[in-house]
Amino acid sequence: MASNGKLRTKEAAFRRFVSVVLLTLLGALLVVLYLRSSSVSDLVIWEDVEVVGGVTFNYTQRRKGLTLPKQNELSIMLEKRNQLPPRNLDLYPRLAKDRIVIVLYVHNRPQYLKLVVDSLAKVKGISETLLIVSHDGYFEEINRIIEGIKFCQVKQIFAPFSPHIFPDSFPGASPKDCKGKDDPDKLNCEGTRDQYGNHRSPKILSLKHHWWWMMNTVWDGLKETHLHVGHILFIEEDHFIYPNAYRNLQILTELKPSKCPLCYAANLAPSDVRSRGEGWESLIAEKMGNIGYSFNRTVWTKIHAKATEFCTFDEYNWDITMWATVYPSFGGPVYSLRGSRTSAVHIGKCGLHQGQRELSACIDNGSINLKVADVDKVPNIRRDWGVHEYRKQNGYQAGFKGWGGWGDTRDHQMCLDFAKMYR
Ligand SMILES: *[C@@H]1O[C@H](CO)[C@@H](O)[C@H](O)[C@H]1NC(C)=O
Ligand SMILES: *[C@@H]1O[C@H](CO)[C@@H](O)[C@H](O)[C@H]1NC(C)=O
Ligand SMILES: *[C@@H]1O[C@H](CO)[C@@H](O)[C@H](O)[C@H]1NC(C)=O
Repeated sequence: MASNGKLRTKEAAFRRFVSVVLLTLLGALLVVLYLRSSSVSDLVIWEDVEVVGGVTFNYTQRRKGLTLPKQNELSIMLEKRNQLPPRNLDLYPRLAKDRIVIVLYVHNRPQYLKLVVDSLAKVKGISETLLIVSHDGYFEEINRIIEGIKFCQVKQIFAPFSPHIFPDSFPGASPKDCKGKDDPDKLNCEGTRDQYGNHRSPKILSLKHHWWWMMNTVWDGLKETHLHVGHILFIEEDHFIYPNAYRNLQILTELKPSKCPLCYAANLAPSDVRSRGEGWESLIAEKMGNIGYSFNRTVWTKIHAKATEFCTFDEYNWDITMWATVYPSFGGPVYSLRGSRTSAVHIGKCGLHQGQRELSACIDNGSINLKVADVDKVPNIRRDWGVHEYRKQNGYQAGFKGWGGWGDTRDHQMCLDFAKMYR
């Protein structure tokens, strides 16, 4: 009896062992199948309707009544790809509840992007959050850099109406377009001239389209973020990020309501792009900068309400458009809170911004010599600091009439449509 019972226990143990092995194998098989199904090569996940968090996304419905350009194959392919789940879900299955989502917007400067991605890899806390990379155009080398990221969840999105993916039709350049200062009435060409008499230049104005499409998409059009009410941090392909950036930003967003009720945003860097900060024992409140800025859904809702101002102001830079029309329309100073040592640095030598109409493409070799000091590796903002306010600052503001480059009514229309895509 006793030995029989023992045998049965052994048998049972063996059976249990076998079932555990089988279950493990089945699990592994499912994981492999899942990973394969979410690889880029098979794009069978394009669904008309998705319900996320009780909200229904009907991707066909949302285009009704809009006059968006007819999409080519690449545009459709990229838009489908935007629905792929983030990468690295296996490495980072859970995100922190109070995460600050990071959005990196890129075009085609791989020499900078490599440095920026390397800098992000060293950011403390980044594995707690989702990194969204928003692409203006489709470039293999840029893609390879992003696909190599292993330090956090990464979601890639591609602007489906980027001028860079329309080689011979709007929003790219079309053979029917007017050129230079052509008079459309005399030459039977398409286009509306800007305030200085010039026709549109797709390569130059693509960044403003991308920025607006990206804002609308990450706040209102992605299942990963449309329920996110907290802050989203925005950085660009030539913004080098210090290791303490994420932890500093968490402190700033926590302090913002009490220390600076007038602040709409928190910034990683001073609004003067050449400054590395004052080095004072103090927080700084100043006008919104364009490097490493972050704000929450309340502020996005305010910005979205100014779509008409943003989309029709004759200025091809998104940031100058914000300074000259959108922020002034909020009816009071629009401050941003930051530390007094920068946590992000603009490394690109040829920005499209800052006034001059640099209409020619600018390429430099991206050699930089940035030393990260020890104080930039750990949070360096103290909770008991006071706030220094810069009340009067130079730069673009209400009254500036714009550098032009954004006079074509087709651009205005597409921009306005972006604001309606998900609402
Ligand atoms: C999504 O919207 C389109 C256009 O209005 C409609 O034809 C389609 O039936 C909708 N899909 C579902 C599943 O409701
Ligand atoms: C978002 O930020 C604004 C400006 O700082 C603040 O007034 C608002 O209460 C914040 N909203 C949420 C949901 O925290
Ligand atoms: C990059 O440019 C700098 C000056 O702009 C030059 O000193 C350096 O040699 C260049 N590096 C390469 C790899 O071309």
